[in-house]
Amino acid sequence: MTAVVSNIDPFEIHEDVRTEDTEVMVDDDQTEDADRATEVAAEEDEEEESSDEELVDTGVQVDMEKLQGDFPGFKDNYRLIKRIGEGTFSTVYKAEDLQYDRYDNFWDHEIDAKWTPPPLRSNEAERQPRRRPRFVAIKKIYVTSSPARILNELELLHDLRMCPSVCPLITAFRHTDQVVAILPYFRHADFRAYFRDMTIPDVAIYLRSLFLALMSVHAHRILHRDIKPTNFLYDPTTQRGVLVDFGLAEREGSDSKPCLCHETREARKHRQSTSVWAQTSTTPQPGYPKSDTRSSRRANRAGTRGFRAPEVLFKCTEQTTAIDIWSAGVILLTILSKRFPFFNSADDVEAMIEIATIFGSKRMKAAGLLHGCVFETSIPTIGQQGFSIEKIILWSTCRSDEKPLTPEERLAVQFLERCLELDPSKRITAEEAMNHEFLRVKDEPSSQEMGADEDDMDILHA
Ligand SMILES: Nc1ncnc2c1ncn2[C@@H]1O[C@H](COP(=O)(O)OP(=O)(O)OP(=O)(O)O)[C@@H](O)[C@H]1O
Ligand SMILES: [Mg+2]
Ligand SMILES: [Zn+2]
Repeated sequence: MTAVVSNIDPFEIHEDVRTEDTEVMVDDDQTEDADRATEVAAEEDEEEESSDEELVDTGVQVDMEKLQGDFPGFKDNYRLIKRIGEGTFSTVYKAEDLQYDRYDNFWDHEIDAKWTPPPLRSNEAERQPRRRPRFVAIKKIYVTSSPARILNELELLHDLRMCPSVCPLITAFRHTDQVVAILPYFRHADFRAYFRDMTIPDVAIYLRSLFLALMSVHAHRILHRDIKPTNFLYDPTTQRGVLVDFGLAEREGSDSKPCLCHETREARKHRQSTSVWAQTSTTPQPGYPKSDTRSSRRANRAGTRGFRAPEVLFKCTEQTTAIDIWSAGVILLTILSKRFPFFNSADDVEAMIEIATIFGSKRMKAAGLLHGCVFETSIPTIGQQGFSIEKIILWSTCRSDEKPLTPEERLAVQFLERCLELDPSKRITAEEAMNHEFLRVKDEPSSQEMGADEDDMDILHA
């Protein structure tokens, strides 16, 4: 059994860790200007290791021991350090990859060639170079997840392994019904800790990294479906980010049925004029038919509250990669408005109300009709016209009209408006986004920008 990453081999899951396999390991710490970067990385590793030594909760310790015990040979391959994430579908641990040197980590060989020793400090001149530990993230997928769903996540990750800014899958193991995915560990900060301090150029760099990932994911005709800050691991210091968590991802069209939004305008108009709604809408009382004989609509609405695109809320049966662009837009709206979470609805109806409050009932109605849905409301706070995004940002950051948006902020807002188009067919694509003035690489980027971009390419494109 093997999970060797190549174009021909089908994706397979290991039975246990003893099986011979080629691990594909990526080092997230090496950079091209090796001198300073290596030094910084070593310092950060030390910092990180000392923070890793914090006491691990007894419950977590028990879980880690169980995981180690379940997989024969696990202890020889990985040293579990701590729990780093507990999501809806998995628990993620940080671990040291003990056998890193035994494998052909082809992601890394170029980097090794570029490596030069860091400048020596006087008191360090005698020091032997220390072997840097290589970290991995071990994603223990809950056994309650369906096998089809687990396989889907692993297969998509395998397909996307060469995509820049997408966290690659090193390998995966299975023991009875327990599957673990091994990913390169990516150092990142908590979004809530840095998003309020981001400057507009910082935001552009952050988004360029996110849209770079989306561009390649979408080129593979894959919808991520759960774009949100916790699934985009970003390190503000190195200004590098990777997209993780393909647990809800799907291939475009895999679960689709034709929806009105993909028909011509004329065909749509015709269908609307002959609909049940058109025939009953002459009655003054808004509402819905008491005995509706139509079968109920079923559409994939998986995702995270507050980040769902309007077409997801309207149960569009033919969703596209445009849903991810909306969610990326919500991240940008969060950053610019300095409010997290920006949307805070308890359910999909409330989510529609939130969106309608901003965009107005007129545009929301048109957005619903695209998918054959009628949006009616008598909520007084939802106006016909809604508000401009610029106004929303000024209000939420408590800025008065005397302190209008700067030209660079205005450019960011123009970009945001393209991401938050209610009509998915009009929404900017990831590829177009990369060419938008807001994200376009400036002619003379700052050295930090240069470094950040090249690192992305280096590590995740290699
Ligand atoms: N490669 C990685 N490097 C570092 N940390 C990671 C990595 N992968 C995941 N994590 C951490 O674990 C968390 C959960 O991972 P992931 O999103 O893949 O799991 P999930 O169970 O689907 O989560 P959720 O339901 O919260 O979206 C991430 O938000 C992140 O903090
Ligand atoms: Mg997640
Ligand atoms: Zn639709």
